[in-house]
Amino acid sequence: MIAVTGVRAGSCRYDAIVGPRLLETVGSRIAEKLPGTHGAIISDTNVAPLFANRVKRSLTLADLKPTLITIPAGEKGKTLKQAGAICEQMLAAGLDRQSFVIGLGGGVIGDLSGFVAAIYHRGIPHVQIPTTLLAMVDSSIGGKTAVNTADGKNLIGAVHQPSLVIDDIDVLKTLPRREFNQGFAEVIKHAIIADAKMFRQLQSWEARSAWRPFAQQQLVLRNIKIKSKIIAKDEYDRTGKRAVFNFGHTVGHAIERAGKYRKFLHGEALSLGIVAACTVSSREAGLSPRQHDAVIDLLQRFDLPTKLPARFPRERIFDALKFDKKFESGEIRFVVTPKIGRAHVTRKVTMEDIREAVDEL
Ligand SMILES: NC(=O)c1ccc[n+]([C@@H]2O[C@H](COP(=O)([O-])OP(=O)(O)OC[C@H]3O[C@@H](n4cnc5c(N)ncnc54)[C@H](O)[C@@H]3O)[C@@H](O)[C@H]2O)c1
Ligand SMILES: [Zn+2]
Repeated sequence: MIAVTGVRAGSCRYDAIVGPRLLETVGSRIAEKLPGTHGAIISDTNVAPLFANRVKRSLTLADLKPTLITIPAGEKGKTLKQAGAICEQMLAAGLDRQSFVIGLGGGVIGDLSGFVAAIYHRGIPHVQIPTTLLAMVDSSIGGKTAVNTADGKNLIGAVHQPSLVIDDIDVLKTLPRREFNQGFAEVIKHAIIADAKMFRQLQSWEARSAWRPFAQQQLVLRNIKIKSKIIAKDEYDRTGKRAVFNFGHTVGHAIERAGKYRKFLHGEALSLGIVAACTVSSREAGLSPRQHDAVIDLLQRFDLPTKLPARFPRERIFDALKFDKKFESGEIRFVVTPKIGRAHVTRKVTMEDIREAVDEL
């Protein structure tokens, strides 16, 4: 069964369609929605061989013209240089202001293709076809697009909402287990900041539940709703409402950086960051020890790390924290949870509080 949910962000509204066997319907859905006929499909070297032909065929059957652009898989492809090269290929292929961009892949492709759509001819429509759990529940919603630079992740980008999001649950079957599990770090983060009921449901999931298509569809829908509800109130991340999505990310990003982006996947570093944020929350926001432990239990159920490896160079985490621009002015905006299902930004947390929480990891 196919489900549709509307996402609102500022003056835009777009549909996220979630269900099985959707890749075959991409062409007709785009033809219905967008005026242009020529579209670039941007994908990576892992995803394109699996799914690009189906998307291309579906576009052709709907009288649309696809141009496939494949880039090397992985975070290293998310650069300004790559975005420029893609734009050049699109110009050479004759895509114009009426054309559109499809991002077919995980969060890397979603962010990069969205950035290309935001700057090509000063902005053309973007269709998100996320193929990882992380991208379905998080990065494909909300319009944040970006590329990385040598100085750090996502430092250059634009807010450019997609025109359509198509989540074909079947594509998750080929996702490696570790990649699948890391998506649950963002799901658990959503539960902690905004949905105590989803937290309890995940606690009662059996090991097999995560692999059931219906459960996946419901999970993706629910997470899209959580994200869109908050984004509707703060599309540009200016009022502090959208900032709650950074829960666990202050320490998570520092761990990711300390591991040179190789040791941990984003969701794994986030899992550790969530544990640290819960420890800080216990001290600064009154999170109960029972709920603190429940978060650790839940992360472990999805094989996510909750302790740093013994020989991990912790000092590098603190260096990375200091590098974080948020800390330079001496004011830290840290997201805490007083109770599962709620979160807020506070300026009360000090570097020392964070250091203590990291020391306990
Ligand atoms: N824009 C946002 O709001 C936002 C939010 C969270 C994360 N992000 C970004 O998302 C990125 C991480 O996304 P990700 O974890 O999806 O990484 P990713 O895009 O690198 O995908 C992970 C790996 O899985 C492969 N893959 C993807 N789908 C597959 C499938 N169905 N079958 C087999 N292999 C598949 C990819 O080729 C890649 O090797 C980061 O760059 C992060 O900054 C953005
Ligand atoms: Zn994240």
